[in-house]
Amino acid sequence: MGRLTGRVGLITGGARGQGRAIAAKFAAEGADIAICDVPAPSPHLAYATATEADLAATADLVQSAGRRCLTFIADVRDQAALHAFTAATWEQFGRIDVVCANAGIAGWYPTLEMPEEVWQEVIDVNLTGVWKTVRAAAPYLIRRGEGSVILTTSTNSVEPLRNMSHYVAAKHGVLGLMRAFALELGDHGIRVNAVAPGMVATPMSDNPAVYNVVFGRPDVSREEYLRAAHNWTALRNRNALSAADVADVMIWLASDESRHVTGIEINIDAGHMVLPGYNTSPVVDPDLPLRDYDLTALGHVGNPAASPAATTS
Ligand SMILES: NC(=O)c1ccc[n+]([C@@H]2O[C@H](COP(=O)([O-])OP(=O)(O)OC[C@H]3O[C@@H](n4cnc5c(N)ncnc54)[C@H](O)[C@@H]3O)[C@@H](O)[C@H]2O)c1
Repeated sequence: MGRLTGRVGLITGGARGQGRAIAAKFAAEGADIAICDVPAPSPHLAYATATEADLAATADLVQSAGRRCLTFIADVRDQAALHAFTAATWEQFGRIDVVCANAGIAGWYPTLEMPEEVWQEVIDVNLTGVWKTVRAAAPYLIRRGEGSVILTTSTNSVEPLRNMSHYVAAKHGVLGLMRAFALELGDHGIRVNAVAPGMVATPMSDNPAVYNVVFGRPDVSREEYLRAAHNWTALRNRNALSAADVADVMIWLASDESRHVTGIEINIDAGHMVLPGYNTSPVVDPDLPLRDYDLTALGHVGNPAASPAATTS
């Protein structure tokens, strides 16, 4: 018996990356799967979103684990398409137990140069798309009086990153949505939690645009990127996480083992969030005189216990 035997998991952005890993891992635990994906190509993204072939490849993985897979072409910005997706899932499987609002996009623009439509696209997909997904799926969970909703946030749900104000704002917003949903859907016995991945090697982050952002210079190689990803983590010998690493934690949130857990965000980041802050900005003014201190004059050097002030007090 798998930990999700007899359950149905619904996943947005299921064609590849973390969505595919969630589908495969949930199926290996006994769940039937419904996935949607394949938005229209965007001129604003530095990488391509998934294709119908990707969607079919995820379905093959689920079926090779002996489970059924419904594939659906739906853009999470389209409420009617999401209603059709959740209705089709209910019709095919007769239940929906786990909802993973995973679909997302990322881009890199200094805020002052960011066209408004780029801002809007990321907010529409990453924030409003999550709201629309839960609105479409929650009525089916409410019918059964139970269920687990898992929203994919990011370390950027609490931490900023340069040149990603749209993404950072959207992920902060998803953390807020998770808490609001946990309160409202808790009335119906439904749990709502979030997973906050660190850097994960999927097409979103494993592409030249990100390599250059991580290093702050052009023409960074993939190997340099993978090695540098270690500096994102606290744990020894780690670099970018795999999509399967994230899905492993999501199995627990989807299963009865977490039946009393709602309203929390779990960092899956190899310790990124405990790293001390450090300013990695490459912006320095070479003409600025270096500020230095005469520590002796400030009276902070030497053994305080040996000073007259220390012995008389
Ligand atoms: N890769 C990382 O380093 C990282 C880190 C933290 C959080 N995340 C989050 O993880 C989630 C999954 O991303 P991933 O790393 O698997 O990237 P990915 O690009 O491989 O997968 C994202 C999937 O979402 C789909 N998608 C995009 N826009 C969509 C839309 N409008 N409607 C439906 N589907 C859409 C894409 O086609 C793709 O299949 C995202 O929410 C992302 O923000 C990623």
